[in-house]
Amino acid sequence: MMDKLTASVGTALDRFIQQKQEQFPYATGELSQLLRDIALAAKIINREINRAGLAGIEGGVGSDNVQGEAQQKLDMIADIRFTRALSKGGETCGIISEEIDGIIDTGNHHAKYVVAIDPLDGSSNIDVNVLVGTIFSIYRRRSPIGRPPTKEDMLQQGTEQIAAGYVLYGSSTMLVYSTGYGVNGFTYEPSLGEYFLSHPNMKCKEDGSIYSINEGGYNTFPEGLKSYLSTCKEREFSARYIGSLVGDFHRNLLKGGIYIYPSTSKYKKGKLRLLYECNALAFLAEQSGGMATDGYQRILEIKPEHFHERTPFYVGSPKMVKEAMEHLNEYE
Ligand code: AHG
Ligand code: MN
Ligand code: MN
Ligand code: MN
Repeated sequence: MMDKLTASVGTALDRFIQQKQEQFPYATGELSQLLRDIALAAKIINREINRAGLAGIEGGVGSDNVQGEAQQKLDMIADIRFTRALSKGGETCGIISEEIDGIIDTGNHHAKYVVAIDPLDGSSNIDVNVLVGTIFSIYRRRSPIGRPPTKEDMLQQGTEQIAAGYVLYGSSTMLVYSTGYGVNGFTYEPSLGEYFLSHPNMKCKEDGSIYSINEGGYNTFPEGLKSYLSTCKEREFSARYIGSLVGDFHRNLLKGGIYIYPSTSKYKKGKLRLLYECNALAFLAEQSGGMATDGYQRILEIKPEHFHERTPFYVGSPKMVKEAMEHLNEYE
């Protein structure tokens, strides 16, 4: 069933969520409430980020997280804010987070949903006042209602997502999400404390001329990728790379382009996390007409084995992703 585009630009997020829910006569409103909980947590994180330089919450905590990365203070703050909002909201029974080792049991054992989050994406950019984000995926639990969440609830493949989205804390703050019927973007109006529909029915361009990759690792890239990159240069494409995946993805979604985080000779599965980063963005890419693969297969069809597993990521305009894949295959 296709979503009827009943909402127009300027519609408040709450009203939009309500309108969508009314199109499904049997919807109980739990997913709607969960989306509101996420939107609320994002408002709180937005506030923390905006005053980070003044509140003494820039910088690292001095230890590594479960990913082996230097954890930033705001990584932890964002993680706590989200966990609290989702636990109090009552619609989520379990959460997995980039920052935490195992499953977070919210205690809401009668809730239907589980959530995977990257609470703060691009956190190393905080200290230099460059945009950061939050990425989330929502799944229906597999285990029986009334019990604690299980590993199987969390290790679902991306095709099982019932909703996914991101928040971008940039020159303005935006919430972009999909429940499987297209992608809509909302801009936050801080003086009113409300998100308004600003980007209805977002569509990824079929082709583009922006490529986003950290080319510092060039010498370690697969030969096929080097070959694709040289064609980008021959055509004088624009190289754009923020180092905050959400921001790089968002720009390419609006303008047409490809984002690549490849396997390297040292890191065969690249850096990005399948469950916290790639699945959500792959879902949004496909919902907007784009494409997302690991260079060979669809991201959404990868069967995850570990919460923190990584995957190479090729996402964006379908013509560009296909072309990059052809180069990879040529050098197999
Ligand atoms: P996170 O801050 O959630 O750990 O994610 C960082 C990711 C992603 O946002 C970004 O695209 C990528 O790391 C940048 O990695 P490089 O510095 O290796 O380019
Ligand atoms: Mn991190
Ligand atoms: Mn991230
Ligand atoms: Mn993160």
